Amino acid sequence: MREVVVYPDMLTLTHAAAERIAQAAEAALVARGRFTIALSGGNTPRALYQLLASEEYQGRIDWENTYFFWGDERCVPPDDQQSDYHMAREAMLNHVPVPMSHIFRIRGEIDPQQAANDYERLLRDFFVSRAVGNEPQPRFDVQLLGMGENAHTASLFPHTPAIDERERWVVAQYVEEVAMWRVTLTPPALNASALILFLVAGAGKAEPLAQVLGQEQRPQDLPAQVVHPVDGELVWLVDREAAKLL
Ligand code: 6PG
Repeated sequence: MREVVVYPDMLTLTHAAAERIAQAAEAALVARGRFTIALSGGNTPRALYQLLASEEYQGRIDWENTYFFWGDERCVPPDDQQSDYHMAREAMLNHVPVPMSHIFRIRGEIDPQQAANDYERLLRDFFVSRAVGNEPQPRFDVQLLGMGENAHTASLFPHTPAIDERERWVVAQYVEEVAMWRVTLTPPALNASALILFLVAGAGKAEPLAQVLGQEQRPQDLPAQVVHPVDGELVWLVDREAAKLL
């Protein structure tokens, strides 16, 4: 099931995303006593993370029983300004009572292939041991994703091998376009989530968004097209600027 919701601006989009996450967290805690969320990097989610850590939302999340993961990471040290982990720490994790042991970052400071192998093992240990029924794994309650102006998502960039990965959950790849190594969840790992929330804002995303949501499937050019939850919901939260060609 795919849902596209258009908001007037970034502020309303961010509040809508926070509300969806808070509701998903409440439901997960009732159902399983824990909430798992995979964060995305980039700029768009920063305001969302700040909002979740604010007075308005901080009481809505049971931080003691929440577990944080990442959909991808740049292969840089955790205190580097480019680190997705660093951004989430500054915007949210330093300001909420989540136990350090519940924050599972991708180790961008070590060899990329080793970081990918370690993260895959971590995910398998965490999720398979807690699996409920025959839900797809890794069963993130929420997978947050953004989309670049080239229609990449996580670190699935156009014409990179990770787009076609169907066995492994985590891979490392050198991305020419950004001249850096990245570690990323793969389509099977992303698509095992219960709720996938794309946050897309700004006029620069209008063209790629219209193509990604269009009929023509060409995931090598438009990697965000590989995102289809196996047994879950796909929700695009977009602002009016990004939606203007829909
Ligand atoms: C990253 C993200 C990436 C991001 C898009 C959109 O590590 O950069 O995971 O996939 O979501 O690049 O980024 P903006 O939100 O900054 O446009």
